Amino acid sequence: MAPSAYGPIGVFDSGVGGLSVLRDIRAALPHETLLYVADSGHVPYGNKTPGYIQQRSLALSRFLLAQGAKAIVIACNTATAAAAALLRATFDVPIVGMEPAVKPATAATRSGVVGVLATVGTLQSARFAALLDRFGQGVTVVTQPCPGLPEQVEAGDLDGPTTRALVERYTRPLLERGADTIVLGCTHYPFLRPLIADVVGPAVALIDTGAAVARQLRRVLEARDLLSPAPTPGSERFWTSGDLVQAQRVITTLWGRPVEVQPVPAPYR
Ligand code: DGL
Repeated sequence: MAPSAYGPIGVFDSGVGGLSVLRDIRAALPHETLLYVADSGHVPYGNKTPGYIQQRSLALSRFLLAQGAKAIVIACNTATAAAAALLRATFDVPIVGMEPAVKPATAATRSGVVGVLATVGTLQSARFAALLDRFGQGVTVVTQPCPGLPEQVEAGDLDGPTTRALVERYTRPLLERGADTIVLGCTHYPFLRPLIADVVGPAVALIDTGAAVARQLRRVLEARDLLSPAPTPGSERFWTSGDLVQAQRVITTLWGRPVEVQPVPAPYR
C-alpha cells in the first residue's frame, strides 16, 4: 500500500536515546504524528553484531509500518550503520538514517583535532570508515568508544557520579590529543550534553546531528509529497520492549512531560 501523507512517522532507537532526535523532529515538523519505539529490552546495540541489529531493525520497522508509518527514522547511529541499507532494500517507505557529525566537525575545528564519541559498533562499521575517508582528510580524528554510557541514560542517570566518571574517562584521551570539537556520535549522548560540557569546558564545541536529521526528514517527505496536511499540532505515541515502569519514568523525564508508554507487542520483541 502506498504511504499516506496523513500517516505517522515511525522512529526507533536501541532505547531512549533517539528521543533526542524526536525532540528535533517535533520542532521541525509540528503537525506530524510521531511514533517512537525504544528497544530498551535489547539495549545496548553498541556491542551487538550487525546481524542482531539488522533483525531488531527489521522487526521494529515492521511494527511501525503495521501502525501505518509513512516513513521511518533510524534515530540511532549504530543501527543506521548496521541496517539502513537493508531496510531501504526491504521497505518502500522513505528510510532516514543518521551518522556521526564528522563533516561539520572537521569544518569547525581550529585545532585540527576532532574527537568522536560513539559506540563500538558505529566506530567499527564500514560506513564510519567511509565517512572518515570522505571528510577526515587534513584533520586528526580521534575516536573513542563509550561502553556503559547508553545504560546510564537508560537508567535516567544524567549527572550522577558514575556517569560523570565515565564521561571523564572517555573525554580525557580526546582532550589530551588537543580536540577542540567533539562529535556526540550516539543519540543517547545529547542528553548528557550539560555534563559533557561541564567536564570538557567552554573551549570545546559539542556537535550532534538531531537537527540535521530532522531537516533531512522534512526534505524527504516534501520530495515524496508526504508532509502532513493536518492544520492541527501533531501528537506522539511511545512503545518500549523493555521494562514498562522504568520506560514510563525515564521517557517522561527525557521528553519533558508525562507520557503513556505501551509494550511492544510480542511478535516484535
Ligand atoms: N543510541 C545508539 C546510537 O545512536 C546506540 C546506543 C547503544 O549502544 O544502544 O548509536
